[in-house]
Amino acid sequence: MSATRMAAAETSAEAVKAGYREFLFQCAPPYYDDPLVLVRGQGVFVTDAEGREFLDFFSGILTTGLGHCHPEVVQAIQEQVATLGHVSTLYLTEQQVEMARRLAEIAPGRLKKTFFTNSGTEAVETAILLACQYTGRSEVIALRYSYSGRSTLATNLTAHASWRPAASSIAGIKHVISPYPYRCPFKSPCDESCVERYAQDLEEAILTTTTGKIAAFIAETIQGVGGYIVPPPGYFQRIVEVVHRYGGLFICDEVQAGFGRTGGKWFGIEHWQVEPDIMVMAKTIANGFPLGATITRPEIAEAWKAKTISTFGGNPVAMAAGIATNRVMVRENTPARAAARGAQLRKGLEALQRKHEWIGEVRGMGLMQAMELVDDPRKKTPSPQKAKLLLEAAKEERLLLGVGGLNGHVIRLGPSMLITEEEMDDALGRLERACRRVEEKL
Ligand SMILES: Cc1ncc(COP(=O)(O)O)c(C=O)c1O
Repeated sequence: MSATRMAAAETSAEAVKAGYREFLFQCAPPYYDDPLVLVRGQGVFVTDAEGREFLDFFSGILTTGLGHCHPEVVQAIQEQVATLGHVSTLYLTEQQVEMARRLAEIAPGRLKKTFFTNSGTEAVETAILLACQYTGRSEVIALRYSYSGRSTLATNLTAHASWRPAASSIAGIKHVISPYPYRCPFKSPCDESCVERYAQDLEEAILTTTTGKIAAFIAETIQGVGGYIVPPPGYFQRIVEVVHRYGGLFICDEVQAGFGRTGGKWFGIEHWQVEPDIMVMAKTIANGFPLGATITRPEIAEAWKAKTISTFGGNPVAMAAGIATNRVMVRENTPARAAARGAQLRKGLEALQRKHEWIGEVRGMGLMQAMELVDDPRKKTPSPQKAKLLLEAAKEERLLLGVGGLNGHVIRLGPSMLITEEEMDDALGRLERACRRVEEKL
């Protein structure tokens, strides 16, 4: 880039940052001391307003699962928006039926009927409202460390103080102990034998903090915002048994873990052979186009008796994006790709952990891998400071990472599921150099 063009680009980036500060709510702060202004994306790479190229290892929060601007998805959106851009839920479209049919084909067990919305938050809202109507009950159990979205209900389901706005509490939601093996309150190392203790905690919570008649238990298969917390084997089988015994439905949140991300299966919950009663999806479902979906068994779907519409839900353009995304995912076999590239990533992360003792744990499944950073590995003291250092150091290496965990001390990784072996090696090289930069600063 010429010096004049570079100066103009920097000015436009500064203007965007100034405009952000002047015209936008500041409650959703961008990453980095000096936020990135992105202008283009292609595959695993994005370019900023200053012409710098970054390898995107977080996919806009696990959303561009096929990489940025996948040509087939772009073409489908362009064709649909020029043909029929909006209808509302008052009219039928072939696209909505086809997208629902495709979801039914890959969803576990008897899940067959879908309601479309525009976000994960709305998909969760739909699931809870449905469970309440089906059971005629209103109490819901969620997990500590969970994240469910940004509506009043979803922030109440969410169990991170920092994500819950003040003075917005609603009754009827209780939180049980998260199956968080690295910080298991029962035994270290946590294993299958702890499952019984988690089940006891759930049963005790139902019997002591609710009327004993719950509408639902909601859980992410891997707790995403919580820092990619993977439960011990047998957890979901045992927990769902308890939920059903007390007449509740199991709502499985696959917003982050769905569509092959965990490797080898379309949905995270399939690793534990459990069939959810209701499942919610969003994020990568349409490769970045706003779309949320709630799928369930026909008899549960029929329990929705109140009137409802969604003006934008099932929008034909979102459906076209979702159909094209699904077609590519099936053809490219994203579950198999995430398993192969995920194994490569995991090996690289474990090698890094051996070099840096402040990487307290490497965990995850498939292409959903995390590093929990600590100050003292024996005491497992969370280190948000190291996570911030690593995020910034990776930016210097032109690598974009994600952050999560209760204290903002977990580095989250989730690149495009179409990432190549060479791109993965490239990313791991950048990450290794970023870790070295952190080490130098300690
Ligand atoms: C597990 C989970 N559920 C629900 C949501 C809410 O989705 P959205 O941000 O699309 O409303 C998120 C968002 O990060 C999520 O991670």
